[in-house]
Amino acid sequence: MNSQQISIHQEGTVGVEVSTVGVTKRFGSQTIWQDVSLTLPAGEVSVLLGPSGTGKSVFLKSLIGLLRPEQGQIYIDGTDITTCSTKELYEIRKLFGVLFQDGALFGSMDLFDNVAFPLREHTRKGESEIKRIVMEKLDLVGLTGAEDKLPGEISGGMRKRAGLARALVLDPEIILVDEPDSGLDPVRTTYISQLFLDINSQIDATFLIVTHNINLARTVPDNIGMLFRRELVMFGPREVLLTSDQPVVKQFLNGRMVGPIGMSEEKDEAQMARERALVEAGHHQGGAEEIEGIIPQMQATPGMPTRQAVARRQARVREILHTLPDAAQSAIMDSFEPVLAGTYTD
Ligand SMILES: Nc1ncnc2c1ncn2[C@@H]1O[C@H](COP(=O)(O)OP(=O)(O)O)[C@@H](O)[C@H]1O
Ligand SMILES: [Mg+2]
Repeated sequence: MNSQQISIHQEGTVGVEVSTVGVTKRFGSQTIWQDVSLTLPAGEVSVLLGPSGTGKSVFLKSLIGLLRPEQGQIYIDGTDITTCSTKELYEIRKLFGVLFQDGALFGSMDLFDNVAFPLREHTRKGESEIKRIVMEKLDLVGLTGAEDKLPGEISGGMRKRAGLARALVLDPEIILVDEPDSGLDPVRTTYISQLFLDINSQIDATFLIVTHNINLARTVPDNIGMLFRRELVMFGPREVLLTSDQPVVKQFLNGRMVGPIGMSEEKDEAQMARERALVEAGHHQGGAEEIEGIIPQMQATPGMPTRQAVARRQARVREILHTLPDAAQSAIMDSFEPVLAGTYTD
């Protein structure tokens, strides 16, 4: 990619595509995950699920080039960041906004200075323009009036939103979010999820949210993938994972003890048999009631621009529909109907 292409994307019209081809990450002799191939469609919201310790954070760090995989390619808008020059990587990094798990705010700076930090660091903008941008982003995340607060003076939810405002100041094309639900109650988690969809509708950025929150995975993304036992179990339209019969996926989505995932992540056949016997004898295996079918996806708040991702995704998914499992196909067809009806009655 040349720098002109990058500057076109910085106009903020369409998010960029991110894809990995057969990537493998190791630390010494420990393989974290191998042969991971997926495409985050431009401007769509994707979630990567996986038990703790499966390398979700390592995956995010690899996408921004903070960690280098041992094998495979990572294409950001067509540029392979595993082989590009340091200078190119520096330019590519400007396409990203990252919301780390704890918000990663500077404790001694108020929210204004925290959000202004990337602008002061990476741009030559004057203070009045910085102020305009910072106030705009704080407004976007609902923090107008809190700019003088220190991170220690506000709630975990507000810190996350401040971290999100900071991730947005350089007008990212790709937004990576690590465990947005950590430290938040279910209601606050839903609020921040709504914010992701609203921001997606406004700036059409490509989102990847890494989480083990099942509610979020069921209701927020266009696409879902899952990491387990050093592999990408699947990645595709949300309906594929949500209707999947794979034991590991079903166990995870229902938060149960019986299944391939154990306390120390993996378990052997003998332990699985013991646990199955317990449940057959009436022991509660944990988790809530099994949810049948697919919960509708959350939408951008009324009044927000139409999410451009929705129509693009529909066209894209129609093309691959015949390659998907039957249950996913019918769930996808069901999800299309309301959109079509809306189109015809308008
Ligand atoms: N910089 C590093 N050096 C060595 N091992 C690491 C490093 N970063 C992460 N790991 C290891 O990679 C594995 C996956 O970690 P992580 O990506 O944090 O998992 P998750 O985010 O899915 O909970 C863990 O075993 C962790 O110890
Ligand atoms: Mg993590």
